[in-house]
Parts: sequence; C-alpha cells; structure tokens
Amino acid sequence: MADMELAQKADPAPPCTMVIFGARGDLAKRKLFPALYYLARDGLLNEQFSILGVDHIEGNSESYREYLDETMQDFLGADFSSKLWDELRPNVHYLQGDFLQDQAFTRLSEKLADLTATAQTPANYLFYMATPPRFFGEIATRLQQAGLAREEEGQWRRLVVEKPFGQDLQSALVLNKTLHQAFQESQIYRIDHYLGKETVQNILMYRLANSTVEPIWNHRYIDHVQITVAETVGVENRAGYYEPSGALRDMLPNHLLALMSVVAMEPANALDGEAVRDEQAKILKAIRPLEPEEVLTQAIRGQYAAGATPDGQPLRAYRDEPGVAPDSTTETYVALKLAIDSWRWAGVPFYLRTGKRMAGRYTEIAVQFKHAPNMMFKDSLVKRANIPPNVLILRIQPNEGIGMCFNTKVPSPVPQLSQVEMDFSYADYFGQAPTTGYETLIYDCMCGDPTLFKRADTIESGWSLVEPIIDVWSALPPRHFPNYAAGSWGPEEADALMHNDGRSWRKCDHVKPA
Ligand code: BG6
Repeated sequence: MADMELAQKADPAPPCTMVIFGARGDLAKRKLFPALYYLARDGLLNEQFSILGVDHIEGNSESYREYLDETMQDFLGADFSSKLWDELRPNVHYLQGDFLQDQAFTRLSEKLADLTATAQTPANYLFYMATPPRFFGEIATRLQQAGLAREEEGQWRRLVVEKPFGQDLQSALVLNKTLHQAFQESQIYRIDHYLGKETVQNILMYRLANSTVEPIWNHRYIDHVQITVAETVGVENRAGYYEPSGALRDMLPNHLLALMSVVAMEPANALDGEAVRDEQAKILKAIRPLEPEEVLTQAIRGQYAAGATPDGQPLRAYRDEPGVAPDSTTETYVALKLAIDSWRWAGVPFYLRTGKRMAGRYTEIAVQFKHAPNMMFKDSLVKRANIPPNVLILRIQPNEGIGMCFNTKVPSPVPQLSQVEMDFSYADYFGQAPTTGYETLIYDCMCGDPTLFKRADTIESGWSLVEPIIDVWSALPPRHFPNYAAGSWGPEEADALMHNDGRSWRKCDHVKPA
C-alpha cells in the first residue's frame, strides 16, 4: 500500500459564506453537508467559513442544526464524529424564505451583512442552487437585484448551478442568457459531478503523465471506445423529474459527454481552467451530430419491464413505479454510436450506453485496441481469430482503478494464449476509496478554480448533440416498450448495434463486488 503522505496537503480554501438555496432538500443532506464535513475533516475549510441555509420550510438556525444532527449521522455513517460536527455546527445558520419573493432576498442581504460583520470575514459569497431547476433563473435574477452578484475590490460572488441545465438546446440557451444577465460567466460554476470524480480527473493524468499511453491514443492503435454508465437503481422517488426527462436528457449531454470529452480531448497547454475547457469545447464540437436517419440505427432506447436482481429479488417495471404513467414512453436506457471528426479519432467509433435497473452498478471506459498482426501464430493452435485484442479499462466506479487486458502464454508445452488482466485499484494502492466528487468541486469553487465546471458553450454543444435524437424520438414514440427486463444488461437492439459492427459490449458480469 502506498503511503498517503504521498498526497500533498492542500491549503484551506479562502474564507467565505456558502449560501445553500434548497437547504432542506435532498441534495443538501445527501451530498453537500457530507462533502463539507469531509472538507472540514481534511482541514480544507477556512476557519472563517460559514453556511447559510435558505429554504421555504419554517425554522431558525437552531432547528436547522437539530435537523442536520440527524441527517449527518444518517449520511456519514461510521465516518461521523460528533467532535468534528460540533466544531462545524455553530457556523451553520438558517433563513426561511421563498425563492420567488424579493423580500426574501432583502432579508438574505441583511443576514449576510450581519454574519460577515459578526464574524469579521470578507464578504465572499458562494451561492449554491440546490433547488429544482425552475428556480435557477429566478434566484440568479433576484440575487442580482439585491446587489448580491456584484463583486467589489477584495470580495467575490460565485453562483453554483446544478443540473439539469435546461431540457433541450432552446431552454439551455434561455437559462444561460438569464444567468448572464445577473452574473458574469466567470462567476458561474455549473456542476457536473462526474467531473469531480477522482477517477474521471485521473483519465487526463493517466493519459498525459505516462509516456507509453499518449503515443497510442489515436486511430492508428485504437479500434473503438465503449463508455458504460450502468445503474442498478430504478427511478426511485424521482418520477416527477424523470418522466419528462428520461435517460437521454438525464445522462447524455452531461455525464456521458463529460467522460467522452476527457477521453478524446487534445492535451491542453496548461492545467488551467480556460485551457482545459477550450480543449473540451473543441472536442464536443468535433463530435458529429446524428442525422435523423442515423438516429434510427445508431441511437437505441429502452425501458425496463419487471424483472429480478441477480440474486432473485423481484423488481417492478418502470411503468409500475410510483408517479410513472402506466403507458409511459420515457426511456430508462440509451445506447449510442458516435463519431468524432478529428485527425486523432478518424474512423474510431465511440459507443455510449447508460441505463437504470441494470444487472450491475458499473461505470467504466473500455478502450479496445486493434488486433496485433499475429501472423506468427497463424498455423499454430493459437489462431488469429482466437487472440482477443488488448483492452484498457478505466474503472470510474465502483472498484475505482485501471485494468489492462493482455494476452499471455499459458504454461504448457504447446503454444496457448490466455487473456489476463493487470489491475490497479485505488483502494488497494492508496488505502481509501475516492470521494463522491462534491468535495473537490466545492473546494475548487471556493478557490476560484473553474477547470472542472461546465462553461456555457459546452452546455450548448452537449444539447446540440442530443437535440436530433430528441426530435426523432419525440416524432416516433416507441411502440416496443418495455423492451428489457429489470436486472438485465439492456435491450437486444443495443447488442445488435455492436454486433452489426462485428463488435460486442464488454461483459460486465465479472465485476468484483464494491
Ligand atoms: C444524476 C442523475 O445526475 O447522476 C441520476 O440525475 C443518476 O439519474 C446519477 O442516478 C448517477 O450519479 P452517480 O454518481 O451515482 O453515478
């Protein structure tokens, strides 16, 4: 196991007050507060850091702290230490307010002035919109009207926007325009929590810090790339959001394209917010949008029927989930074949798939290399057709790590080959599993580093790629839903997408339990 001292200690973030809109919501309790707790544990929060929760639910700072006493224990489990929480707790405050009323923002402004004066901290404010998306524009506008978006000498104001950034290209353009009327682009931090995942950030490190990798990272050596985001969960209690959204809007323009862009982008000339995001923007623009007739063959959709978990627990169909219409045509699975018009990726297909209620929870990028010439083996027991290609597997979650499949001689007097996997696992090597990603993103935002956040142009490029699919799919509602069993690996059409190209999805069944 490597010594964790290897990791350089980062400095605490600059002082600030983090205002959480939607303070009583799911995101705040599940992700934001646990992430803040871990930042505090690792000494990454400033001593002059405070949190102001804002929500419409009645309450005051003390009742909010009491509510958090419970949720923190629930969501931190064994990591919870009351000693540490007692240190953070007094810095948590609450303001009851309606996000649609100007008056609430006047009170917010007064409360912030009061908090900063009492604690004698600089008026640096991080506004985090952990609310349903219909409030994003409203909150941004009201913050600006209350004078809270204006940055003055020695103080910053930043706005964190969660997904979804619109429902299609048009609404994303409108949202970006509204945000830009209130805040400068440089003040806006759009979160895609996939970019905060350690393993996703490592893709660039792995590609660009190893001299053996980058020379083969192109169409001369790579046959194709598969990106899989498989989830075992169903729609849970989110039908209200998921029914009009579906797997395509929920996962494609953000998480899957984020993964694709870090795999495919050109090296930036510096590890700098604009340089890295410029390269990501270029690669998104180079992805060829599907023509309507291509949507019919290269974009596969699915919806889960009743099924069972791999250990036999029954699972209900999507249409039987609470809040879902009995004849719903919402897709819970998508597979796509995309091409990138660039020198590096000419002729290399990228296959993307994501689905709910799959047989395993499993996010990985498999880079399959071309076959070796292998003519030496053509007359031996080892025939070319039997020699599997090398595959590099970037395991995003769970079992975070990297695997390389290569062929090796089986100990035997006759020549025989077997594919083996060389494995690097974060947990084995560093003795800890990577975090959820929110820690890094919140810390980076406090430090003013936008590298891992989406810019307006990359949001719009993402929707431009998804738009032709949305158009065809809404014009031609699916007649074959549901078309895969819950607890399986998705619809047969997705297998056919690969088989038609003489390829197949990597089998995920061998995944070790998390
Ligand atoms: C969210 C989607 O953005 O990402 C969810 O809205 C999905 O539907 C989730 O379940 C997946 O995130 P993770 O980190 O669990 O892979």
